[in-house]
Formats: sequence, C-alpha cells, structure tokens
Amino acid sequence: MQKEIRIFAGGCYDLMHAGHYNALRQAKATFLKEGYERVHLVAGVCSDAAIAANKGPPVVPHSERVEIVKACKWVDEVAADLPYGQPAQLFDDLRIDFTVLGDDHAPGGSLYEQAMRTGKLRIVKRTEGMSTTELIGRLMTLSRKHQIKSGKDPKGLVSELDSENKGATKPVLLPTIGRIVDFRGQAEAPAGHRVVYVPGVWDLFHVGHVRFLQQAAKHGDFVLVGALGDDDVNKRVGRNFPLQTLHERALSLLSCRHVSDVLLGSPWKITQDMIKTMNISVVCHGNTDFWDANRLDCDGLGDALELPRKLNMLVKIDSGCDVTVYTMADRIWQHAEEYTVRQKKKEEEAKKYDEKKAFVAEK
Ligand code: CTP
Repeated sequence: MQKEIRIFAGGCYDLMHAGHYNALRQAKATFLKEGYERVHLVAGVCSDAAIAANKGPPVVPHSERVEIVKACKWVDEVAADLPYGQPAQLFDDLRIDFTVLGDDHAPGGSLYEQAMRTGKLRIVKRTEGMSTTELIGRLMTLSRKHQIKSGKDPKGLVSELDSENKGATKPVLLPTIGRIVDFRGQAEAPAGHRVVYVPGVWDLFHVGHVRFLQQAAKHGDFVLVGALGDDDVNKRVGRNFPLQTLHERALSLLSCRHVSDVLLGSPWKITQDMIKTMNISVVCHGNTDFWDANRLDCDGLGDALELPRKLNMLVKIDSGCDVTVYTMADRIWQHAEEYTVRQKKKEEEAKKYDEKKAFVAEK
C-alpha cells in the first residue's frame, strides 16, 4: 500500500462551522483508518463568483474563507478560487489520489464523477443541525430590531422568514463526547509548557478569531481557550446572543490549529484556583470593550480579569482585524432580498435531505 496520499475536499466554506470542520476531519480520518500513514489534505475553496452564481452571494469574502480554512488543523494545503463543480483536471493539477464528499451532495462536476467511476471517492457523514443557511437565519434574526427601527425591512422580509420558521422542528447539532474527543485529538502539552489562557465567546468563528488566536499562541506553547457558557454570554451581551451554542462554538475552536484545548463553559472570573489547576502563565484578551470593568459592573458579573491584572500576567492583543458578528449581519442586510430567496431555496433542499436521510457512520 502507498504510504502517503493526497486527498481533496472541495466546498464553499462560507460562515465556517462545525459541519464543515467535521467534514474535513472525517476526510483525513477516513484514509488514516484505511491504513495510509500520511494523508495530505487539500481543501478546495470556491471563488466568490462561483458561489454567487450557484447559491447566492457569499457572506464571508474569498480571502477570509481561505484564511479560515488554512487555520483548520486537518488542512495541509488550500487550493483557492475554484469553480463550483470542480473539473476532473484537478486530479492532475493538484496530484490528487482521492476525493471526499458529504452524504448530502450528489457527485456533480466531472471531478466527482470521475472519482466515483474509478473508486477514488469516499462519502463522509454530513453533520446534523449545522449549515451556512442555519447561521444566516440566526444572523437575520439578530438584525431584526435595529433594521426594522431604521426602516430597512420595508418588505417585511424578516417577519416573513420568522413566521415560516414558527413551529418547525429543525435538526440540532448532537455533540456526543465521542465527537468532542475526536475533534480534540491527542495533542499533549509539552514538558515544562507555558499555558496561555484566552477566555471569550467565540461566536461564528471568523478571521478575527483566527488572527487573535495566532497571536495569542506566540505567548506560550499551549493555548487553552475559555468558552463562556450560553447564559453568561447572554447576560453580558443580551439580545439573542450567543448565536451559536457552547458546543457549536467549542467544536469550531477545537478545529483551529492555534488552539490546544477548550475549557467548556469557562468561569466568568479568573480565580487563583484556575491559575494553579490549569498551570496558566499568561492571560490574553482583545481590544474590544467586552472585558471593560466599568461596563461589567452594570451586568453584576464583576471584573473577570481582576486577578491576572493584579498578578501582572495580562496581555492585550490587537488582532488588527475589525470583523465581528455585526460585520456579517451587515453583509447579509446589504443583500437582504437575495438572501431571503437563498434561504427559501436552501431550506427546501435541507427539508428534502432530512426526509430522505439514512444513517451514515461517522469516521
Ligand atoms: N458539510 C457537512 N455537514 C454540514 C455542512 C456541510 O458535512 N452540516 C460538508 C458538505 O457535505 C461538503 C463540505 O461540508 O462536503 C463543504 O460544504 P459547502 O460546499 O461549504 O456547502 P454546503 O454543503 O451547502 O454547506 P452548508 O449547508 O453549510 O452551506
């Protein structure tokens, strides 16, 4: 058996989520389980024009999607700016041995057709309850109040989508311990390691998070990310935040190459016991006012960073990137009508898939 292979996993990877990450993780795991020693994963990322022509405008621009996919720990290489249905020629151009596809996709495009004919295609389980469509829906709901107040929903688009969704029982992400363990992997802390602790919300994992974590990683050799619980986030930020549940956020974090481990539902206040127990050397935070002690008093949560500040172990990081959840909500609202059409079409497709869905084992 050939020891090293190159495999391909193409996609749009828009609003990157646990479903995309699980597809990339399974792509690699499939071949390692088949006995190959080294599996080089090439993730193919579609161009903005290709997505716009086939699905509707992408929320996240191509350069950011490429950066986020590159930061995924199972990805070894990115092939950027690809057309939607990938040509068979890619097998030669990228020296690909095998390709993978989610069980929701019919093998369209000559790459997949040829792979199927020649036994070079593997199907991986689509992750339930997570999709770009679902996240766009949550972002649209988030925008509702301020958009309607400023008269930007004259056609009642959001109200229309809301009433259609009422009473629907949608699939949700099922975060088993086995899945969390598979995402976490085996990475152990090196001896005498220096733990960097980075608490936060990490909603809709985006390029700002990637750049921030990349910088935090320079302050030590084990990045422990604190992911605040859903109630703490809501208490602090209000509205319908967080848009993603704790487990959805944690799976995205665990997929990032700059993250060593995630503390689920991390305590709001960093305590002496936490510092000792987790062997924390540095605490990093960003330059938003999220942790601002003056604002915190109003929420009754107290100053989360008081102790690391007193102990002189607090480092402020500027990611140099101003993308936030609101940036994505605004991108959607700039094309509200197109997104409404897109949502209806994709929701129909999802319904059809869910009705026909059969069991596929997760790799
Ligand atoms: N994928 C998955 N589970 C999901 C969503 C996507 O396994 N919940 C897989 C798809 O099957 C595909 C890969 O992720 O192999 C890339 O998906 P992409 O091209 O970005 O688009 P969609 O499948 O349409 O993803 P989404 O529904 O989130 O838009």
